[in-house]
Formats: sequence, structure tokens, C-alpha cells
Amino acid sequence: MTTRILAVCLGNICRSPTAEAVLRAEAARAGVSVEVDSAGTSDWHIGKAPYGHAVSAAAKRGYDLTALRARQVRPEDFAEFDLILAMDVDNRNALVAMRNGAVRNAPAAPVRLFLDFAEGAPMLSVPDPYYSRDFEGTLDLIEAAARGLIAQLAQKA
Ligand code: 4NP
Repeated sequence: MTTRILAVCLGNICRSPTAEAVLRAEAARAGVSVEVDSAGTSDWHIGKAPYGHAVSAAAKRGYDLTALRARQVRPEDFAEFDLILAMDVDNRNALVAMRNGAVRNAPAAPVRLFLDFAEGAPMLSVPDPYYSRDFEGTLDLIEAAARGLIAQLAQKA
């Protein structure tokens, strides 16, 4: 079974495109079938490539973000994906509100905090590197969560 996963942050130019690429790489490494996309809760960067510092930090670890383009979360996403991953609590709350409005009597993907899957992560949210400038720390958290999630999916397969 293929699991369809949507990673979501605020701008869709730093954390969620990074999570998209890392999840894809981790799934390929583990032989787990996934379809991964990412989106933002805001409309601020629609159509834009990921932020340059996120692209270069990811590239140093072997992840290519260059083909990705930002889009906004849409109501259909709740039906078209199996799992929606929020990069932080604010975006989780925005997604839960959207999900409540988007679906009545329709199947809707669960919304989970991405860091729920990161073993031993001390926080709930991936801090926004656009403000923190800690692109390496962002990658460390995203890699840990991706490993945890893909390991769970591998066990279920
Ligand atoms: P992201 O980071 O949510 O991880 O993509 C951000 C990028 C840009 C802005 C906010 C967050 N911004 O305010 O433009």
C-alpha cells in the first residue's frame, strides 16, 4: 500500500519542502511506498522555489529541493492524502480548523505533529529556520521525524 503524506508549514519554502525531500529519501532507503507533497497554510509564497538557505543546507546532506514550488493547503488535500503532518503547533491548529470546515461526512486525513514521530525530540514544533536561521538544527529534527515515521510505516507494511 502506498501512503500519501502531505507535509505542511507556514510558507512552504523552508520546513515542509525539506520534510518532503527527506521523507522521500528515507522511504526510498527503507523500501517503503509513499507519495509525498508539501504545502503552506499561508498564501505568501505560492509558486516560489524553496528559500535559498534551506536549499543549500539540504543539498549538503544530499536532498535536492530545487524542483519544488510552494502551494497553499486546499480543502481537497484532506481527502487526497492519508496523513497530514504539521511542522508546528500553530500550523497544526490551522489545519485542524480547516479540516473541520472542509469535511462533513467525508473521509479526512488525520493531522499530526511531525515531531510526534521523532524519538526523543524535546519539543513539539520544528522551529522556523526563516527566523531562527538554524537550518542544520531544522534538518536534524526533520531527519529524526522522517526516520521515525518511515520506520512505523515499514512495520505496518
Ligand atoms: P516555512 O518558513 O513556514 O518553514 O516555509 C517561513 C518562510 C517564510 C515566512 C515564514 C515562514 N515568511 O514570513 O515569509
